[in-house]
Amino acid sequence: MLLSFSFPLLIFHLLRTTSRRKLHLPPGNLGLPFLGETLQLISAYKTENPEPFIDDRVSKYGTVFTTHVFGEPTVFSADPDTNRFILQNEGRLFESSYPGSISNLLGRHSLLLMRGSLHKRMHSLTMSFANSCIIRDHLLVDIDRLVRLNMEAWTGRVLLMEEAKKITFQLTVKQLMSFDPCEWTENLMKEYMLVIEGFFTIPLPIFSTTYRRAIQARGKVAEALGLVVRERRRESEKGERKNDMLAALLDEEGDGGGGFSDEEIVDFMVALLVAGYETTSTIMTLAVKFLTENPCALAELKEEHAEIRARKGEAETLQWDDYKSMSFTQCVVNETLRVANIISGVFRRAMRDVSIKGYTIPKGWQVFASLRAVHMDHNHFKDARTFNPWRWQANSGSSSSSSSSSSSVINVFTPFGGGPRRCPGAELARVELLVFLHHMVTRFSWVPAEQDKLVFFPTTRTQKRYPIIVERRDDS
Ligand code: HEM
Repeated sequence: MLLSFSFPLLIFHLLRTTSRRKLHLPPGNLGLPFLGETLQLISAYKTENPEPFIDDRVSKYGTVFTTHVFGEPTVFSADPDTNRFILQNEGRLFESSYPGSISNLLGRHSLLLMRGSLHKRMHSLTMSFANSCIIRDHLLVDIDRLVRLNMEAWTGRVLLMEEAKKITFQLTVKQLMSFDPCEWTENLMKEYMLVIEGFFTIPLPIFSTTYRRAIQARGKVAEALGLVVRERRRESEKGERKNDMLAALLDEEGDGGGGFSDEEIVDFMVALLVAGYETTSTIMTLAVKFLTENPCALAELKEEHAEIRARKGEAETLQWDDYKSMSFTQCVVNETLRVANIISGVFRRAMRDVSIKGYTIPKGWQVFASLRAVHMDHNHFKDARTFNPWRWQANSGSSSSSSSSSSSVINVFTPFGGGPRRCPGAELARVELLVFLHHMVTRFSWVPAEQDKLVFFPTTRTQKRYPIIVERRDDS
């Protein structure tokens, strides 16, 4: 029995070794048939310290190695130059690829799935709506107002992750279509959260109730957004125009020159909701967690914000100059992005055989550019696994051992990706994070309500949604 079982395995391994040698793939291990090394990856990322999964392979094979994860052989890069090469060659040598289950939830016209010239145009349209000038002149005032509004209701025990999610959802809905929080947005959020759950579950409708529910909820979200789009079309025909992302989409010429269809606009809006919601809210929560665990950093941050408040009246809205003066808070945000790595890396598919570092990545193969591996590498960041916001201060001398100038650190620090798909919401996310931290530290003191653990699978999150006990500060 043992022989009959092991013989096919032997053949399988031989075949794979032979074809690997012929193609000169990066060295590595494809693990078990079908499963590959997925179980090892998942069990590492379900802990607070997932690094050994990458460390072990880098020490055996180098920073570019072959593995087999999520059903496919994959070239895994923990190397900043290779990552840059992969990201910069989007659409030429590599293209983004998502499993069908994810594409169904995103919608076929999603920016995340678009390719070629349409992608380029829609990416820059998104950038044009979330650039510094727009944020300064239009979005900042709403960010400040909605963060305050939500915090007004905080008392006693607060699940910080839930609160942060509520804030980022409301902000995105406001930026997209000018809706303030109301019963309609509450209901939309309930359906939307079911969609999000679908991204992190087994994508088989017959087996997974969560996925089936997510697909149904996606339909309801699309229907609700579709109604808004139709109403806004009618308004714009009457010459009424709001200043939001939806107005920009309604103004834009579609691919055929005749404007986008309702379905295209809805898919585009869902993409923005998905991309900005979980990411920014998790970084908000983790920045607070890391600060709580680092009292010196928290004290310095509080000082920076107390100075800003001292310059302004109690209830005065934050201005662009205030945002620009939050230099230590930017360091805290950088360090949170580096250590938490909410997007731990990006998947791509090779469009043809690609040579990298003397190896060949065969056409059609999956590639994973690991942003996390670089951010946690001691060769690029001194004491890389320690939370140290001061490393981001100019001339701190502690940013990196091998790449001591700050420009080289910036080259290897890529929490927002790179190339044509670099996050168009990067500046917006930063502003939201800084405003959130400002109001958090000037209005409240807090302690953790219980022990909570950071894990990295299926997403970066704390297991208990980071419960804290908040106390309103007397002077707030
Ligand atoms: C801390 C918060 C955020 C992080 C860490 C983050 C990170 C990223 C990363 C790494 C990518 C590249 C994905 C790839 O190359 O495949 C990306 C893409 C994207 N992000 Fe963000 N993001 C954040 C917030 C936001 C926000 C607030 C928005 C809202 C405007 C947004 C919108 C997008 C979109 C639309 C894409 C897809 C771009 C494309 O495919 O062309 N992100 N983000």
